[in-house]
Amino acid sequence: MANTRTKPQVPKSVGSCEHPAALIGALSPLYRTELGAAFLADAGAVLTALPAESANLVFTSPPYALHFKKEYGNVDKAEYVGWFLPFARQIHRVLKNDGSFVLNIGGSYNKGVPTRSIYQFKLLVALVEEVGFHLAQECFWYNPAKMPMPAEWVTVRRVRVKDSVEYLWWFSKTPHPKANNRNVLKPYSADMLRLNRRGVREAVRPSGHNIRSGFTDISSGGSIPSNVIEEQEAHSLLTLGNNAANDHYSRRCKGAGVKIHPARFPAALPEFFIKLLTDETDVVYDPFAGSNTTGAVAERLRRRWLASEIVEEYLAASRFRFDEDAQANGSGRTDAGSKARQDQLRIWTE
Ligand SMILES: C[S@@+](CC[C@H](N)C(=O)[O-])C[C@H]1O[C@@H](n2cnc3c(N)ncnc32)[C@H](O)[C@@H]1O
Repeated sequence: MANTRTKPQVPKSVGSCEHPAALIGALSPLYRTELGAAFLADAGAVLTALPAESANLVFTSPPYALHFKKEYGNVDKAEYVGWFLPFARQIHRVLKNDGSFVLNIGGSYNKGVPTRSIYQFKLLVALVEEVGFHLAQECFWYNPAKMPMPAEWVTVRRVRVKDSVEYLWWFSKTPHPKANNRNVLKPYSADMLRLNRRGVREAVRPSGHNIRSGFTDISSGGSIPSNVIEEQEAHSLLTLGNNAANDHYSRRCKGAGVKIHPARFPAALPEFFIKLLTDETDVVYDPFAGSNTTGAVAERLRRRWLASEIVEEYLAASRFRFDEDAQANGSGRTDAGSKARQDQLRIWTE
Protein backbone atom coordinates (compact mmCIF):
# COMPACT_ATOMS: atom_id res chain seq x y z
CA MET A 1 0.00 0.00 0.00
CA ALA A 2 0.97 3.63 0.27
CA ASN A 3 4.66 4.18 0.75
CA THR A 4 5.50 6.45 3.61
CA ARG A 5 9.17 5.47 3.90
CA THR A 6 11.38 8.43 4.56
CA LYS A 7 14.74 7.21 3.25
CA PRO A 8 16.60 10.32 2.06
CA GLN A 9 17.31 10.47 -1.66
CA VAL A 10 20.35 11.76 -3.44
CA PRO A 11 18.80 13.17 -6.60
CA LYS A 12 20.72 13.25 -9.84
CA SER A 13 20.48 16.50 -11.73
CA VAL A 14 18.93 16.83 -15.18
CA GLY A 15 21.33 19.04 -17.06
CA SER A 16 21.29 22.23 -15.07
CA CYS A 17 17.84 21.37 -13.64
CA GLU A 18 17.18 19.65 -10.37
CA HIS A 19 15.87 16.07 -10.50
CA PRO A 20 12.13 16.29 -9.65
CA ALA A 21 12.51 13.72 -6.83
CA ALA A 22 14.24 16.52 -4.93
CA LEU A 23 10.93 18.40 -4.89
CA ILE A 24 9.55 15.72 -2.54
CA GLY A 25 12.53 15.13 -0.30
CA ALA A 26 10.43 13.57 2.47
CA LEU A 27 9.24 10.59 0.40
CA SER A 28 11.22 7.84 -1.22
CA PRO A 29 10.24 6.82 -4.77
CA LEU A 30 9.63 3.20 -5.76
CA TYR A 31 11.82 3.88 -8.80
CA ARG A 32 13.60 6.71 -10.50
CA THR A 33 14.63 7.32 -14.07
CA GLU A 34 16.90 9.90 -15.58
CA LEU A 35 14.11 12.47 -15.63
CA GLY A 36 11.46 11.29 -13.20
CA ALA A 37 10.35 9.53 -10.05
CA ALA A 38 7.40 7.24 -9.31
CA PHE A 39 6.00 7.18 -5.77
CA LEU A 40 4.00 4.34 -4.28
CA ALA A 41 1.88 6.75 -2.31
CA ASP A 42 -1.49 8.40 -2.00
CA ALA A 43 -1.82 11.34 -4.39
CA GLY A 44 -2.79 13.50 -1.43
CA ALA A 45 0.50 12.73 0.36
CA VAL A 46 2.62 13.58 -2.69
CA LEU A 47 0.61 16.72 -3.46
CA THR A 48 0.95 17.93 0.12
CA ALA A 49 4.70 17.30 0.03
CA LEU A 50 5.18 19.23 -3.22
CA PRO A 51 6.15 22.89 -2.91
CA ALA A 52 3.79 25.56 -4.24
CA GLU A 53 4.22 26.46 -7.93
CA SER A 54 6.51 23.54 -8.69
CA ALA A 55 4.69 21.79 -11.57
CA ASN A 56 4.08 23.03 -15.11
CA LEU A 57 1.45 20.44 -15.98
CA VAL A 58 -0.72 18.04 -13.99
CA PHE A 59 -2.14 15.49 -16.40
CA THR A 60 -4.27 12.72 -14.94
CA SER A 61 -7.15 10.31 -15.17
CA PRO A 62 -8.48 9.59 -11.68
CA PRO A 63 -10.84 6.69 -10.96
CA TYR A 64 -14.18 7.71 -12.50
CA ALA A 65 -17.52 7.43 -10.72
CA LEU A 66 -18.57 4.35 -12.67
CA HIS A 67 -21.73 2.33 -12.53
CA PHE A 68 -19.61 -0.81 -12.86
CA LYS A 69 -16.69 -0.61 -10.48
CA LYS A 70 -13.15 -1.20 -11.68
CA GLU A 71 -10.92 -3.52 -9.69
CA TYR A 72 -8.96 -0.61 -8.17
CA GLY A 73 -12.08 0.97 -6.67
CA ASN A 74 -14.19 3.93 -7.70
CA VAL A 75 -15.90 6.61 -5.69
CA ASP A 76 -19.71 6.88 -5.82
CA LYS A 77 -21.16 9.57 -8.06
CA ALA A 78 -22.88 11.29 -5.12
CA GLU A 79 -19.58 11.67 -3.28
CA TYR A 80 -17.33 12.33 -6.26
CA VAL A 81 -17.02 16.12 -6.06
CA GLY A 82 -16.37 16.01 -2.32
CA TRP A 83 -13.76 13.28 -2.82
CA PHE A 84 -11.91 15.08 -5.62
CA LEU A 85 -11.90 18.69 -4.41
CA PRO A 86 -9.14 18.29 -1.76
CA PHE A 87 -6.85 16.88 -4.50
CA ALA A 88 -7.89 19.71 -6.83
CA ARG A 89 -7.06 22.41 -4.27
CA GLN A 90 -3.58 20.93 -3.88
CA ILE A 91 -3.17 20.67 -7.66
CA HIS A 92 -4.03 24.36 -7.90
CA ARG A 93 -1.43 25.16 -5.24
CA VAL A 94 1.41 23.14 -6.80
CA LEU A 95 0.90 24.47 -10.33
CA LYS A 96 3.04 27.30 -11.61
CA ASN A 97 1.08 30.41 -12.48
CA ASP A 98 1.29 29.65 -16.20
CA GLY A 99 0.68 25.94 -15.59
CA SER A 100 -2.19 23.70 -16.68
CA PHE A 101 -4.24 20.87 -15.21
CA VAL A 102 -5.71 18.43 -17.73
CA LEU A 103 -8.33 16.04 -16.37
CA ASN A 104 -9.45 12.97 -18.31
CA ILE A 105 -12.85 11.88 -17.05
CA GLY A 106 -15.58 9.67 -18.49
CA GLY A 107 -19.34 9.93 -18.30
CA SER A 108 -21.64 7.44 -16.63
CA TYR A 109 -25.27 6.28 -16.63
CA ASN A 110 -27.61 6.62 -13.66
CA LYS A 111 -28.44 3.33 -11.99
CA GLY A 112 -31.43 1.48 -13.46
CA VAL A 113 -32.48 4.11 -16.00
CA PRO A 114 -31.20 5.11 -19.45
CA THR A 115 -30.23 8.62 -18.38
CA ARG A 116 -26.78 10.09 -17.88
CA SER A 117 -25.28 11.22 -14.63
CA ILE A 118 -24.10 14.82 -14.53
CA TYR A 119 -21.48 14.17 -11.83
CA GLN A 120 -18.60 15.26 -14.06
CA PHE A 121 -20.32 18.55 -14.92
CA LYS A 122 -20.87 19.23 -11.20
CA LEU A 123 -17.15 18.63 -10.75
CA LEU A 124 -16.29 21.02 -13.58
CA VAL A 125 -18.40 23.79 -12.04
CA ALA A 126 -16.84 23.21 -8.61
CA LEU A 127 -13.30 23.25 -10.06
CA VAL A 128 -13.96 26.66 -11.59
CA GLU A 129 -16.24 28.26 -9.01
CA GLU A 130 -14.87 26.78 -5.77
CA VAL A 131 -11.22 25.99 -6.50
CA GLY A 132 -10.54 28.93 -8.82
CA PHE A 133 -9.39 27.17 -12.00
CA HIS A 134 -10.08 28.71 -15.39
CA LEU A 135 -11.54 26.41 -18.04
CA ALA A 136 -9.00 26.97 -20.83
CA GLN A 137 -10.73 24.55 -23.23
CA GLU A 138 -12.87 21.46 -23.16
CA CYS A 139 -11.32 18.74 -25.30
CA PHE A 140 -12.46 15.22 -26.11
CA TRP A 141 -10.85 11.86 -26.57
CA TYR A 142 -12.60 10.00 -29.39
CA ASN A 143 -12.29 6.37 -28.39
CA PRO A 144 -14.22 4.09 -30.78
CA ALA A 145 -12.94 1.04 -28.87
CA LYS A 146 -15.25 1.70 -25.91
CA MET A 147 -17.65 -1.16 -25.14
CA PRO A 148 -21.35 -0.70 -26.04
CA MET A 149 -22.44 -0.27 -22.42
CA PRO A 150 -24.74 -0.49 -20.53
CA ALA A 151 -25.74 -3.56 -22.54
CA GLU A 152 -29.39 -3.27 -21.45
CA TRP A 153 -29.85 0.11 -23.12
CA VAL A 154 -27.42 -0.18 -26.04
CA THR A 155 -27.37 -3.79 -27.27
CA VAL A 156 -30.51 -5.37 -25.74
CA ARG A 157 -33.28 -2.76 -25.78
CA ARG A 158 -31.45 -0.63 -28.39
CA VAL A 159 -32.65 2.67 -26.95
CA ARG A 160 -29.25 4.36 -26.63
CA VAL A 161 -26.22 4.57 -28.90
CA LYS A 162 -22.62 3.68 -28.19
CA ASP A 163 -20.65 6.19 -26.12
CA SER A 164 -17.32 6.96 -27.83
CA VAL A 165 -15.92 10.05 -26.15
CA GLU A 166 -14.33 10.98 -22.87
CA TYR A 167 -13.68 14.47 -21.63
CA LEU A 168 -10.26 16.03 -21.49
CA TRP A 169 -10.83 19.21 -19.55
CA TRP A 170 -7.99 21.65 -19.76
CA PHE A 171 -7.89 23.96 -16.73
CA SER A 172 -5.41 26.69 -15.98
CA LYS A 173 -4.43 28.79 -13.02
CA THR A 174 -4.63 32.03 -15.00
CA PRO A 175 -6.47 32.88 -18.25
CA HIS A 176 -3.16 32.74 -20.15
CA PRO A 177 -1.38 29.44 -19.45
CA LYS A 178 1.75 28.58 -21.42
CA ALA A 179 0.60 26.91 -24.66
CA ASN A 180 1.78 26.66 -28.25
CA ASN A 181 -0.34 24.88 -30.83
CA ARG A 182 2.58 24.96 -33.29
CA ASN A 183 3.96 22.03 -31.28
CA VAL A 184 0.99 19.79 -32.13
CA LEU A 185 0.37 20.54 -35.79
CA LYS A 186 -1.19 17.77 -37.85
CA PRO A 187 -0.31 16.82 -41.41
CA TYR A 188 -2.36 18.82 -43.92
CA SER A 189 -5.35 16.89 -45.21
CA ALA A 190 -5.49 15.75 -48.84
CA ASP A 191 -8.34 18.26 -49.38
CA MET A 192 -6.25 21.11 -48.01
CA LEU A 193 -3.30 20.17 -50.25
CA ARG A 194 -5.63 20.00 -53.27
CA LEU A 195 -7.17 23.40 -52.45
CA ASN A 196 -3.68 24.83 -52.08
CA ARG A 197 -2.73 23.58 -55.53
CA ARG A 198 -5.93 24.90 -57.08
CA GLY A 199 -6.31 28.06 -54.98
CA VAL A 200 -9.65 29.34 -53.64
CA ARG A 201 -11.75 32.29 -54.70
CA GLU A 202 -12.12 35.01 -52.07
CA ALA A 203 -15.67 34.83 -50.73
CA VAL A 204 -17.88 35.42 -47.74
CA ARG A 205 -19.48 32.29 -46.36
CA PRO A 206 -23.17 32.27 -45.36
CA SER A 207 -21.88 32.26 -41.77
CA GLY A 208 -20.23 35.64 -42.46
CA HIS A 209 -16.67 34.31 -42.35
CA ASN A 210 -14.33 35.78 -44.96
CA ILE A 211 -12.47 33.26 -47.09
CA ARG A 212 -9.28 34.97 -48.25
CA SER A 213 -6.63 33.65 -50.62
CA GLY A 214 -4.36 32.86 -47.63
CA PHE A 215 -6.99 30.36 -46.43
CA THR A 216 -5.18 27.53 -48.17
CA ASP A 217 -1.70 28.56 -47.10
CA ILE A 218 0.32 25.46 -46.21
CA SER A 219 3.54 27.13 -45.21
CA SER A 220 3.00 26.74 -41.45
CA GLY A 221 4.24 23.16 -41.34
CA GLY A 222 0.87 21.58 -40.57
CA SER A 223 -2.75 22.27 -39.77
CA ILE A 224 -4.02 23.35 -36.37
CA PRO A 225 -5.54 20.33 -34.61
CA SER A 226 -9.08 20.33 -33.28
CA ASN A 227 -10.07 19.73 -29.67
CA VAL A 228 -11.03 16.12 -30.50
CA ILE A 229 -8.09 13.80 -30.02
CA GLU A 230 -8.79 10.84 -32.25
CA GLU A 231 -7.34 7.38 -32.38
CA GLN A 232 -6.10 8.20 -35.88
CA GLU A 233 -4.09 11.00 -34.37
CA ALA A 234 -2.75 8.50 -31.89
CA HIS A 235 -1.60 6.51 -34.87
CA SER A 236 0.03 9.43 -36.61
CA LEU A 237 1.54 10.97 -33.50
CA LEU A 238 2.97 7.66 -32.45
CA THR A 239 3.54 4.40 -34.20
CA LEU A 240 0.46 3.00 -32.48
CA GLY A 241 -1.83 3.75 -29.55
CA ASN A 242 -0.89 2.49 -26.15
CA ASN A 243 -3.69 0.09 -25.39
CA ALA A 244 -3.03 -2.61 -27.94
CA ALA A 245 -3.21 -5.99 -26.24
CA ASN A 246 0.25 -6.83 -27.50
CA ASP A 247 2.09 -3.58 -26.93
CA HIS A 248 5.46 -3.60 -25.24
CA TYR A 249 4.12 -2.92 -21.74
CA SER A 250 1.42 -5.61 -22.00
CA ARG A 251 3.80 -8.22 -23.32
CA ARG A 252 6.30 -7.46 -20.61
CA CYS A 253 3.54 -7.74 -17.96
CA LYS A 254 2.40 -11.07 -19.40
CA GLY A 255 5.96 -12.34 -19.53
CA ALA A 256 6.53 -11.41 -15.89
CA GLY A 257 3.12 -12.77 -14.83
CA VAL A 258 1.93 -9.45 -13.43
CA LYS A 259 -1.41 -7.75 -13.83
CA ILE A 260 -1.89 -5.41 -16.81
CA HIS A 261 -3.49 -2.15 -15.71
CA PRO A 262 -7.19 -2.33 -16.71
CA ALA A 263 -7.76 1.36 -17.50
CA ARG A 264 -4.76 2.78 -19.34
CA PHE A 265 -5.16 5.71 -21.65
CA PRO A 266 -3.26 5.85 -24.97
CA ALA A 267 0.11 7.57 -24.91
CA ALA A 268 -1.26 9.98 -27.53
CA LEU A 269 -3.29 11.80 -24.85
CA PRO A 270 -0.44 12.88 -22.57
CA GLU A 271 1.76 13.33 -25.66
CA PHE A 272 -0.61 15.88 -27.17
CA PHE A 273 -0.93 17.96 -24.00
CA ILE A 274 2.71 17.70 -22.92
CA LYS A 275 3.75 19.03 -26.33
CA LEU A 276 1.05 21.72 -26.32
CA LEU A 277 1.62 22.96 -22.77
CA THR A 278 5.22 22.35 -21.74
CA ASP A 279 8.84 22.73 -22.81
CA GLU A 280 11.77 20.38 -22.30
CA THR A 281 12.78 19.98 -18.61
CA ASP A 282 9.40 21.33 -17.40
CA VAL A 283 7.79 19.24 -14.64
CA VAL A 284 4.78 17.03 -15.47
CA TYR A 285 2.94 15.25 -12.63
CA ASP A 286 0.34 12.45 -12.83
CA PRO A 287 -1.18 11.97 -9.34
CA PHE A 288 -3.29 8.89 -10.32
CA ALA A 289 -0.61 7.34 -12.46
CA GLY A 290 -1.75 3.70 -12.85
CA SER A 291 0.71 2.18 -15.32
CA ASN A 292 2.51 5.54 -15.59
CA THR A 293 1.75 6.21 -19.24
CA THR A 294 2.22 9.92 -18.54
CA GLY A 295 5.67 9.51 -17.00
CA ALA A 296 6.90 7.34 -19.86
CA VAL A 297 5.74 9.84 -22.47
CA ALA A 298 7.26 12.71 -20.49
CA GLU A 299 10.59 10.89 -20.30
CA ARG A 300 10.62 10.34 -24.05
CA LEU A 301 9.80 14.01 -24.65
CA ARG A 302 12.60 15.06 -22.25
CA ARG A 303 10.30 16.55 -19.63
CA ARG A 304 10.92 15.94 -15.93
CA TRP A 305 8.08 13.96 -14.37
CA LEU A 306 6.52 12.75 -11.12
CA ALA A 307 3.96 9.98 -10.65
CA SER A 308 1.99 8.65 -7.68
CA GLU A 309 -0.08 5.46 -7.50
CA ILE A 310 -1.46 3.50 -4.55
CA VAL A 311 -1.46 -0.01 -6.05
CA GLU A 312 2.04 -1.45 -5.87
CA GLU A 313 1.49 -4.05 -8.60
CA TYR A 314 0.53 -1.37 -11.13
CA LEU A 315 3.40 0.93 -10.30
CA ALA A 316 5.98 -1.84 -10.16
CA ALA A 317 4.91 -3.06 -13.64
CA SER A 318 5.02 0.49 -14.99
CA ARG A 319 8.82 0.21 -14.99
CA PHE A 320 8.51 -1.84 -18.18
CA ARG A 321 7.58 1.37 -19.97
CA PHE A 322 11.12 2.61 -19.41
CA ASP A 323 12.86 -0.22 -21.20
CA GLU A 324 15.29 1.51 -23.53
CA ASP A 325 13.72 0.04 -26.63
CA ALA A 326 10.22 1.02 -25.50
CA GLN A 327 11.35 4.60 -25.00
CA ALA A 328 13.23 4.70 -28.29
CA ASN A 329 10.16 3.50 -30.19
CA GLY A 330 7.65 5.90 -28.76
CA SER A 331 4.70 3.68 -27.95
CA GLY A 332 6.89 0.88 -26.73
CA ARG A 333 5.69 -1.37 -29.53
CA THR A 334 8.81 -3.40 -30.08
CA ASP A 335 9.66 -7.05 -29.92
CA ALA A 336 12.66 -6.64 -27.73
CA GLY A 337 12.55 -6.91 -23.98
CA SER A 338 15.16 -9.54 -23.32
CA LYS A 339 16.99 -9.91 -20.05
CA ALA A 340 20.03 -8.23 -21.55
CA ARG A 341 17.97 -5.23 -22.55
CA GLN A 342 16.33 -5.06 -19.15
CA ASP A 343 19.77 -4.83 -17.64
CA GLN A 344 20.31 -1.67 -19.63
CA LEU A 345 17.30 0.13 -18.17
CA ARG A 346 17.97 3.72 -17.30
CA ILE A 347 16.25 3.17 -14.01
CA TRP A 348 17.47 3.40 -10.46
CA THR A 349 15.41 1.17 -8.24
CA GLU A 350 15.44 1.98 -4.58
C1 LIG B 1 -7.87 5.47 -14.39
S1 LIG B 1 -6.49 4.82 -13.57
C2 LIG B 1 -5.14 5.68 -14.32
C3 LIG B 1 -4.55 4.93 -15.49
C4 LIG B 1 -3.38 5.65 -16.15
N1 LIG B 1 -3.81 6.87 -16.82
C5 LIG B 1 -2.67 4.75 -17.14
O1 LIG B 1 -2.59 5.08 -18.34
O2 LIG B 1 -2.22 3.67 -16.72
C6 LIG B 1 -6.58 5.56 -11.98
C7 LIG B 1 -5.52 5.07 -11.00
O3 LIG B 1 -5.60 5.84 -9.79
C8 LIG B 1 -5.17 5.01 -8.71
N2 LIG B 1 -5.61 5.66 -7.48
C9 LIG B 1 -6.85 5.67 -6.91
N3 LIG B 1 -6.86 6.44 -5.81
C10 LIG B 1 -5.60 6.94 -5.67
C11 LIG B 1 -4.98 7.82 -4.72
N4 LIG B 1 -5.66 8.33 -3.69
N5 LIG B 1 -3.67 8.13 -4.90
C12 LIG B 1 -2.95 7.61 -5.95
N6 LIG B 1 -3.49 6.78 -6.87
C13 LIG B 1 -4.80 6.45 -6.73
C14 LIG B 1 -5.83 3.68 -9.02
O4 LIG B 1 -5.18 2.62 -8.35
C15 LIG B 1 -5.68 3.61 -10.54
O5 LIG B 1 -4.53 2.88 -10.92
